[in-house]
Order: sequence, then C-alpha cells, then structure tokens
Amino acid sequence: MTHLSPLLDKNQPISQLFGIEYPIISGGMAWCSGHSLASAVSEAGGLGLIGAGSMNPEILREHIHKTRAATDKPFGVNIPLASPHAEETIQIILEEKVPIVFTSAGNPKTYTSALKEAGVIVAHVVSSSRFAIKAEEAGVDAVVAEGFEAGGHNGREETTTLCLIPSVVKSVSIPVIAAGGIVSGSAIAAMFCLGASGVQLGTAFALTKESSAHQKFKEYCVSLGEGDTQLLYKAVSPTRLVKGGYFDLIKEAEERGASIEELKAIRGVGRARMGMFEGDLERGELEIGQAAAEIDSIRSVQEVMADLVNGYRDTIDQMQL
Ligand SMILES: Cc1cc2nc3c(=O)[nH]c(=O)nc-3n(C[C@H](O)[C@H](O)[C@H](O)COP(=O)(O)O)c2cc1C
Repeated sequence: MTHLSPLLDKNQPISQLFGIEYPIISGGMAWCSGHSLASAVSEAGGLGLIGAGSMNPEILREHIHKTRAATDKPFGVNIPLASPHAEETIQIILEEKVPIVFTSAGNPKTYTSALKEAGVIVAHVVSSSRFAIKAEEAGVDAVVAEGFEAGGHNGREETTTLCLIPSVVKSVSIPVIAAGGIVSGSAIAAMFCLGASGVQLGTAFALTKESSAHQKFKEYCVSLGEGDTQLLYKAVSPTRLVKGGYFDLIKEAEERGASIEELKAIRGVGRARMGMFEGDLERGELEIGQAAAEIDSIRSVQEVMADLVNGYRDTIDQMQL
C-alpha cells in the first residue's frame, strides 16, 4: 500500500523536490502561460511554468528574464518535445540556468540526461502507465499523469484522471503529479487519496487575469457548461476543443472521413494563436479542459490559489482525514 500524505504544504515530496510551499503547478500552456502567469503562481507558493510551446527561443529568453525580475521563487519551463524549436529551446534553458523543466509530447530519453547533467530537475507529462515507466527509465524526477479531462493536446488512450492516477502510482516509484479536471481543493484531496503527491492545473490558470490568453477567450470559457468541449482531431493529434466555428469544421470533416492531409489543411497554420491569443472565437482554435464548466469568473492567481488551499483544508476537515 502506498503511503498517502494528506499534506498540501512544503512537506509533500513534490514541494520538496521543487522547493515550493504548495505542491500545485500551473501547467505550461501555449498562448496562456507567459511570464505574468508563471511568476504570479510561483509568488503565490505554487510552481509557475512558462509555456515555451508557443514561443520562439528568443521570446522564451525574454519571458525567463521577466519571470526572474518578478519573483525569486522557483519556476520552470514547459517544452513540448515535438516543437520544431525543441533543440534551441533546450539550449536557452541551459544557458539561462532554468532550474526546472517539464517536457511533454515526445520521447523523454532525448534530453533528460543532458538536462540532469546540468543540474535541472525534470518532470515529464504522460497519458499512460506505459509512458510513465519509460519516463522513469529515462531518468526524470517526477511524472505528470494527465487524464482525458485535460485541456490542450491529449493522450490517444483516453484514460480518465480517476483511472490513470492509481495505475501510474502503482507502476513507478518516482512522485506522481496528477493533472486533468482539477479545479478545486476537493479535487486535490481526491488526487492525494489516489496516491498523487502534487497536482498540475491548466484550465484554472488559463482563465486567470494573469494568463496571456485573450480576454474574449477567457470570457467565453467561463461561460461554458458541462459537455461543451470534446476531444477531436484524433487522427492527427487528439485535442480537446471548445464548441464553436472551428470545432464544427473539424467535426464535420472527421464525420465524413476526411484524410489526415485534409484535416491538417483545414487546421492550417496559426489557428491556436488566432483563437486563444487574438480572441477570434469563430475561426480560431479554442482549447480548454472539461473543468471549465466549474469556473464562472475570471479570478486572480492569488484568489485561485487561496480557493484551492482553503477548499482542500475544508475537505480534509469534513472528512476528518
Ligand atoms: C489552453 C491550453 C494550452 C495547453 N498547452 C500545453 C502545452 O503547450 N504543453 C503542455 O505540456 N501542456 C499543455 N496544456 C496542458 C496543461 O499543461 C495541463 O496539463 C492540463 O491543462 C491539465 O488539465 P486541466 O486543463 O483539466 O487543468 C495546455 C492546456 C490548455 C488548457
């Protein structure tokens, strides 16, 4: 039986690994997590990640400098390994001595040793126990196990967070960070009960004041209800999309059996920027998690963190854990 630790504080293994107060991480998010969001989360006691996936390497360098200017607490960078800039991005991370890196969407073997040799703490995002074992073999310090509910690009297995976390916890001996569908303190408590020792949230932080997403995108997402997102684009790269103009285009093409080439052509270039960063709700790609249905206002990072911590404590008190 895994030892369960009901502590949302600096004594959780994940807090100790990263040197933070609360084992709460804001996931790297293309077009949402720039220096403002990353530094605000770190300042509030969590771990803020800069999402390098939507940045060219020199823009990333600027975000690293601005994050350091805003906080002296630990922060990290997320790099989707499928990015065409992955190699240069890793170089910048090493030059800038970024202390923590979360890799995703690719093979953890490629850069983990180089990062570890430079003293970087590395976590890798997985969607299955099989990938978690590979990440552990590659030498990462922790895995983020991200379930089907999550916003952004998703695993092909479609395993929900509730089923994924216990299975990953059983499969590896490194700490497991749960992700996908977590927007409340009670959800954090549930994840700890399943054996996770930290949580990564995307949706909740994408819809804060400090997120660099467009205001129209945030307002639209906080109005969403249950069932307003769906995993589409599965033949190319499964993506949880919000219902709307672009969603309809992809869904219609998939239903008539469009080829991978046609689907890629429909998506074209710059769709995600158009939707999430420029606020074109009709033509742009809009990505958010299922749990957007639980959020009904745009709050500050400080408010989100306080709600998570207080909600967690209330849950523990009520359950008398
Ligand atoms: C708008 C958006 C963009 C995202 N972009 C990335 C990304 O660039 N790299 C990555 O590893 N994960 C990305 N994610 C996933 C998050 O880092 C996080 O793991 C996920 O959102 C957690 O699930 P939740 O949305 O239910 O909180 C993104 C999520 C959202 C909502």
